[in-house]
Amino acid sequence: MNKPEDKFVLMPQESAGDPHVFQRLLAQETVPVPDYLASSFPGFRDDDLPVERYISRDFHRQEAEKLWPKVWQFVGREEQIPKAGDHLVYDIVDDSIIVMRGDDGVIRGFHNSCLHRGRALRMGGGTVNSLKCPYHGFTWDLRGRLASIPCEWDFKHLKKGEQNLPEVRVESWKGFLFINMDADAPSLLEHLGVLPEHFRDYAFERSVIIAHVQRRIPCNWKVAQEAFMESMHAHVTHPQILTFTGDCDSQYDMYGDNISRSVTPMAVPSSHTKGVVEPRTLRDILEESGRMADADGDAHRLPENTTTRQYIGELNRRIFGDVSGRDLSHVTLAELQDAILYSIFPNTQIWAGYCGNILYRAIPDGDDPDSCVFDVMLLWRHKEDEVPPPPAKLNRLSDDQPFSEAPELAALGPVFDQDIRNLLAMTKGMKASKKGAVSLASYQESRIRHHHETLDKYLGIGGEK
Ligand code: FES
Ligand SMILES: [Fe+2]
Repeated sequence: MNKPEDKFVLMPQESAGDPHVFQRLLAQETVPVPDYLASSFPGFRDDDLPVERYISRDFHRQEAEKLWPKVWQFVGREEQIPKAGDHLVYDIVDDSIIVMRGDDGVIRGFHNSCLHRGRALRMGGGTVNSLKCPYHGFTWDLRGRLASIPCEWDFKHLKKGEQNLPEVRVESWKGFLFINMDADAPSLLEHLGVLPEHFRDYAFERSVIIAHVQRRIPCNWKVAQEAFMESMHAHVTHPQILTFTGDCDSQYDMYGDNISRSVTPMAVPSSHTKGVVEPRTLRDILEESGRMADADGDAHRLPENTTTRQYIGELNRRIFGDVSGRDLSHVTLAELQDAILYSIFPNTQIWAGYCGNILYRAIPDGDDPDSCVFDVMLLWRHKEDEVPPPPAKLNRLSDDQPFSEAPELAALGPVFDQDIRNLLAMTKGMKASKKGAVSLASYQESRIRHHHETLDKYLGIGGEK
């Protein structure tokens, strides 16, 4: 039965939204607020984007030729390949890259193609003692050097020293492994721009992957990315979070070509609502957000003269501090609970903050513009002097399996399912579009605009990068 506090009013959607809420909340902080939480909005054009950017095979081929071979792409975390011979396989359109730890501890990237007749050496990640092609047995060592040729007398025309596996650049930041197929590209650190500075205090080098779920989604990779670039869809798509989420009250920030951010205030009701009382906000954020330090709404009562924002912030401060073995007493309530979500161009997004960080990635599914492979990871931290637990194994869902069947995602699973319902309908709707274009909100969808402006620079639309 509903309790009296369950009643609240939904406001007319036309008037909801206040982008200044986050800065007003920061003004109430009792600890110094880091500069990086300031607003950084350069302003953008308002013209429509043609739907061809999402659904045309020609545009997909342009990305295959000019974007993916040139750009840094997140492959996985170092702790997923701790031992010699451990490797990941990253497939991107027609390319496939093996990212492997060598017997010298160095992580290298190799094009996943046998130098004999071209079989893929590995069809997925795992652990090997050498890279032995399953077709005829050409074998490379863990550093990519040719070790053995079958019937060597018959291959006198191949010079052994010239048959090492061609390498791909691999660089790591805080344990996040990226590849780039372009030998002349700027360094990963240059690509990441402000991100290392903004994430300086979050100890991501001590990440623990507590969940990794992957599913194919029948939509363009950009459509999947863009589902997480704005919060204004929440009042219709995720109505269960309005009692504790400032969806249309978010701040949007851009930094150079590759980094953008949205900051959605948490533990405050949406301005789409009126009359939400604090006990309701407290119960709902614990049970529905999937990111707080506890998920039991009945285990907590709000003390007098305390807001939900203060209470949840202090709860997270204590438990996240215990988990990571860190003193978080100097940390803002914002960094302990708000949805501070960064994107790294082109296809990775990661939440800032001290624990409970979600990472999303959407990779085009081979040559099909209407399909992508979508990954979700949840990252916690281990203590500095602690042997970290092994990372969660990849849970690959079938093509029609809901995320709510991945128990490791807890309350986030049903939220993703709500997003996926939109994504399933996007391809159909874009192909049926008479308008032939999408129109973006000037502010709340500015991260999407920023994403396309950087993409244009790679594709040479409006000038070569
Ligand atoms: S194709 Fe690899 S050994 Fe022949
Ligand atoms: Fe969503």
